[in-house]
Amino acid sequence: MATDQPMLPCQRHLFDIPDDVAYLNCAYMSPLMRPALEAGTVGLARKAHPWQITPDQFFAGAEEFRDIAAQLLDCSADCIAIVPSASYGIATAARNLPVNKGQSILVLEEQFPSNYYAWQRLAENNGASLKIVPWPEDHDWTAAVLNSLTADVAIAALPHVQWTSGGRLDLVRIGEACRKIGAALVLDLTQSLGALPFSVRDVQPDFAVAASYKWLLGPYSVGLLYVAPKWHHGMPLEENWIQRADASDFASILYTENYDAGARRFDMGERSNFALLPAAVRAMKQVLEWDIARISETAGALNRRLAEAVATLGFSAPAEPLRAPHYLALRRKTAIPKELPEMLAREKVFVSVRGSSIRVTPHVYNTVEDGERLIACLRRIAGG
Ligand SMILES: Cc1ncc(COP(=O)(O)O)c(C=O)c1O
Repeated sequence: MATDQPMLPCQRHLFDIPDDVAYLNCAYMSPLMRPALEAGTVGLARKAHPWQITPDQFFAGAEEFRDIAAQLLDCSADCIAIVPSASYGIATAARNLPVNKGQSILVLEEQFPSNYYAWQRLAENNGASLKIVPWPEDHDWTAAVLNSLTADVAIAALPHVQWTSGGRLDLVRIGEACRKIGAALVLDLTQSLGALPFSVRDVQPDFAVAASYKWLLGPYSVGLLYVAPKWHHGMPLEENWIQRADASDFASILYTENYDAGARRFDMGERSNFALLPAAVRAMKQVLEWDIARISETAGALNRRLAEAVATLGFSAPAEPLRAPHYLALRRKTAIPKELPEMLAREKVFVSVRGSSIRVTPHVYNTVEDGERLIACLRRIAGG
């Protein structure tokens, strides 16, 4: 489904991707763009001269991260915590959300494990159960979730985009339905934030997390966690010095009952990472500058062209808007060989196989030729 957003010109010049590499695997891990790599390198080098690291630098970088992350999510910086992974954010939510005996926690069939195990444990510990939304044959995950949101659901733990199929959930409608039955909404936005427009104001989740190393184009081991104001008094996973009140006064740090403001209490230990935060911030700034709707349209156009071309080879994918534009999961009647990624990698074409799909996830660094090379490979494999 084309939008009225103009596409971005190819941004490959900002990345270190050789001409003969067709990297169509952002859902696995995005390449770090040159300016982000430089920002991270400068940050890492600071540790060579610790005498130049001042107390305020432990705070300034973290606050900049919060500001930019808040712009991406359309919320206040006070609602952002800095986390190392999606699973850390999900564990934080699971620690704070109540669930009673007999109630249930809603997840999707084949949901990513980092947004599954914590809920399985929470349900087990509380005499609750996991309620699994069955895979919808018609690809309509939204309808399937809405059907499953009954009065017994205490927490709905969901993604914006299902990670193997690219199926898109209408989170505005799901958010409304959750509020109607008093269920908390927890989101894993790792496969969508940065490539699919999203607004906390519209969806009103309780918690939402995204690892930075995919569609936020950031480094590995850092991510952002949105915490709704009603949970700001909650319990962090870790207790550390920097999430407490007045931590910036290095000379007189001692014990205090009080936490720093807003969601800062949920920050991970050593959150002031001098290498990772500047790289993540630089990448998020670039994403904002490009504009997420335009990123979505740019990746979407490439995927639409690909889907059309490989349809004649027997591959099909759900159509938009049930599928997110940036995410193309190709299936065919005959099984897809597990070793397909290795076969393609020998041709320097990079995709993933997830479940029974070839997962193609381009970004603004991809060219039309990258797509053509994948099509040529699939044609050879299909014997067409
Ligand atoms: C949907 C989804 N969530 C989260 C992650 C990463 O989880 P974590 O940050 O806990 O390693 C991935 C990685 O592939 C993912 O696909």
